[in-house]
Amino acid sequence: MPETVLVTGGAGYIGSHACVALLEAGYRVVALDNLSNSKREAIARIEEIAGASLVFEQVDLLDRAGLEALFRNHAPNAVIHFAGLKAVGESTEQPLRYWQNNVGGSAVLLDVMRRSGVRKLVFSSSCTVYGAPETLPLTEEAPLQTVNPYGRTKLAVEEMLRDLHASEPGWNISILRYFNPVGAHPSGMIGEDPLGIPNNLMPFITQVAVGQRERLSVFGGDYPTRDGTCIRDYIHVLDLVDGHLKALQWLEGKPGIGAHNLGTGQGQTVLEVVKGFERATGVSIPYDIVERRPGDAPAVFADPALARRELGWSAELGIDAMCADAWNWQQKNPSGY
Ligand code: NAD
Ligand code: WQD
Repeated sequence: MPETVLVTGGAGYIGSHACVALLEAGYRVVALDNLSNSKREAIARIEEIAGASLVFEQVDLLDRAGLEALFRNHAPNAVIHFAGLKAVGESTEQPLRYWQNNVGGSAVLLDVMRRSGVRKLVFSSSCTVYGAPETLPLTEEAPLQTVNPYGRTKLAVEEMLRDLHASEPGWNISILRYFNPVGAHPSGMIGEDPLGIPNNLMPFITQVAVGQRERLSVFGGDYPTRDGTCIRDYIHVLDLVDGHLKALQWLEGKPGIGAHNLGTGQGQTVLEVVKGFERATGVSIPYDIVERRPGDAPAVFADPALARRELGWSAELGIDAMCADAWNWQQKNPSGY
């Protein structure tokens, strides 16, 4: 029997790409999502791309009975846990919602897992757990410090996982700290579909390119970087999900618990991303340099050496592929799903 993987947040941006990769690798996939930030259409598209079907359950992580029924009915062997709320600004306005959903939801999931005897987990963490870094590139040894409620919920779940692992033998847990995931499946059938005005750079750029927004505001032009704009480590979503497949294999070696950075190790400035997009697509992006956005660190990028060494993973795709694939998705789906 092939392994059955439960993907929480399976209709979301990264989860949908992970479902495709898992189906293509021969796993049975059970996707769970409450559709609070995603559309059911994503599930149909996943199946179309992969040429295989999955089980979809519209269940909220806070619905313990629903989750227990899902574990009884589908008997997953492992869980990849993407489900969560992720908007930094919103988390400062609605902190309790973030704590309840991200931390409370994870606590229910973990409890149902242990009662069902499922002790293999890959968790979506974030470079946000490093806060504003003092030394670059960021290794997994860097101090953990968070600067907003969203980040604190990610760090809290990491701590919960470390406590759980210490309390009970048999858990194998991979914590993956993503840097800045961008891009889309090359088919253009699934991609990032933000509700309302995008918070993140790449969806904003593609919405300008498609004519939905007039100009990009570049937040800050006076940072101590090579062109004055912030540096981030953008990573193609296909590379990112490949890291999850490698992490699942790593868990087979019963490593206990470990955290790995998933980034390219190459930082790009905001203006380099804009130029990269123009080069890859031939579409020009009008922009204005405006005030800094509160809370932005000047530069954040990964040292991905540990993931290379332990997971046998490294990112392959560069900024041109990230931009071309994000644009292909946006063009084929100008208003999202
Ligand atoms: P997304 O919003 O597209 O996907 C998350 C999915 O989880 C959504 O489909 C949403 O409906 C679902 N969900 C949320 N709460 C739920 C609940 N209580 N029960 C069931 N489903 C629920 O986000 P994404 O970009 O795909 O991110 C996936 C994960 O990766 C998140 O945990 C996020 O914090 C983390 N992450 C994302 C980024 C990024 O920039 N996209 C970076 C680092 C980490
Ligand atoms: C990237 C750069 C902006 C929009 C966020 C979360 C982080 C992680 C990844 C989840 C920054 C600049 C942006 C715009 C701009 N998510 N920018 N104009 O802030 O690095 O990280 O997503 O875990 O926790 O904080 O990503 O895409 O918002 O910004 O100039 O309209 O683009 O200032 O330098 P960020 P981002």
